[in-house]
Amino acid sequence: MLRMEIIQYNLPQSRIPQAWYNILPELPRPLAPVLHPGTLKPIGPADLAPLFPMSLIMQEVSTESQIEIPEEVRQIYAQWRPTPLIRARRLERALDTPARIYYKYEGVSPAGSHKLNTAVAQAYYNRQEGVTHLSTETGAGQWGSALSMACALLGLECKVFMVRVSYDQKPYRRALMEAFGASVTASPSVETESGRAILAAHPHSNGSLGIAISEAVEVAAKDPGTKYALGSVLNHVLLHQTVIGQEAIEQVALAGDEPDVIIGCTGGGSNFAGLVMPFLGRKLKGRGNARIVAVEPAACPSLTKGSFAYDFGDTGHLTPLVKMHTLGSTFVPPGIHAGGLRYHGMAPLVSHIVDLGLADAVTVQQMDAFGAGIQFARAEGIVPAPEANHAVAETIRQALVAKAEGKPRTILFNLSGHGHFDMQSYIDYQAGKLENYEYPAEEIAMALAGLPAVP
Ligand SMILES: Cc1ncc(COP(=O)(O)O)c(C=O)c1O
Repeated sequence: MLRMEIIQYNLPQSRIPQAWYNILPELPRPLAPVLHPGTLKPIGPADLAPLFPMSLIMQEVSTESQIEIPEEVRQIYAQWRPTPLIRARRLERALDTPARIYYKYEGVSPAGSHKLNTAVAQAYYNRQEGVTHLSTETGAGQWGSALSMACALLGLECKVFMVRVSYDQKPYRRALMEAFGASVTASPSVETESGRAILAAHPHSNGSLGIAISEAVEVAAKDPGTKYALGSVLNHVLLHQTVIGQEAIEQVALAGDEPDVIIGCTGGGSNFAGLVMPFLGRKLKGRGNARIVAVEPAACPSLTKGSFAYDFGDTGHLTPLVKMHTLGSTFVPPGIHAGGLRYHGMAPLVSHIVDLGLADAVTVQQMDAFGAGIQFARAEGIVPAPEANHAVAETIRQALVAKAEGKPRTILFNLSGHGHFDMQSYIDYQAGKLENYEYPAEEIAMALAGLPAVP
């Protein structure tokens, strides 16, 4: 009789982590402080209070390594967590590689991606502090869907500024957000001062995450009943994603394996950090030795081509200054289909670990990303989100290197979401309508020339 191969390494509901994992206390150097753009002095919790509830602000600066997950949040996580760890045996065979490939599949969340891990937590803490309305931005629509769903579950109103190019490319994402009860506006919009300023200068602007963030922050700053929620970049967002890596550590052990390389795509850095930080914490304590690789689009290469400098998190300059890898806050990335990767900056924490030499960064072109996504879909039966295709492409590249060298290696990557609402981009790819974008060197140089002067 044929012996069945194990494909999924699953954990019971009781193994949903009890705490989020904060790597900050383990790092050899602390993060650079967040600065007030006027005084250039470090900001304090009170400066952020108009935008975020105090519990999230305290998580942002916490030096505790474990932060307990509230029972109600764990209970909601149980709708889809623990997510499966899947051995990509069919892809391994298709590539004829000696590499063992595993992926943590976050696309099983009802919103379709990892974003729900932090959306539920953020909606919960806001509701605890009496907030009734949240405003946010969304690039690909995954974050907006996740926050809309979390707000529906926790009884909050949600207002989403959706980057114009995605709003046009992905009407079903918009419909999903509206089904969850959110109100969705294409950004740049005439509803905010920052949106109107951009439209005055660029009436046909495609929008960008940096612009949509300005609009959402402005709405929250002007309305005492509304707070702002960010889908990536900030420490507390990355923290909430660490349920991914903590589960994966247990699951890889169930498989009797240990990764040699861990891969995640990076837009603002949250799914990457969520998978890798728990592994990195172990590595810093002498357990495991995996190489950690961040994958970004060649059209928006903040980690590989950006400056590690203080910059604004948004285009309208409403946020404080954070030290991060940045392409300049006025840089509007080309309209690649991986909308969630079109951000000029990178999470300060991810920037910091790259600067410390604890992680590497590589780029992938749009066509290679979609080619990899199709290859993955045909082997594994899952159509990845365009963002996740970047991680798939790097995984395939590494598996082929293992083949060329004739050496096995264990590769783990984060399949951060499915692409069921991104089929237009697959239609365009299959019809030969997608293109690579050259690295927009001149535009980036111009945007970097405008970096704020911080001594
Ligand atoms: C499926 C998916 N993966 C990755 C990303 C990139 O964001 P982050 O780097 O914060 O994980 C996004 C953002 O929208 C996304 O939707």
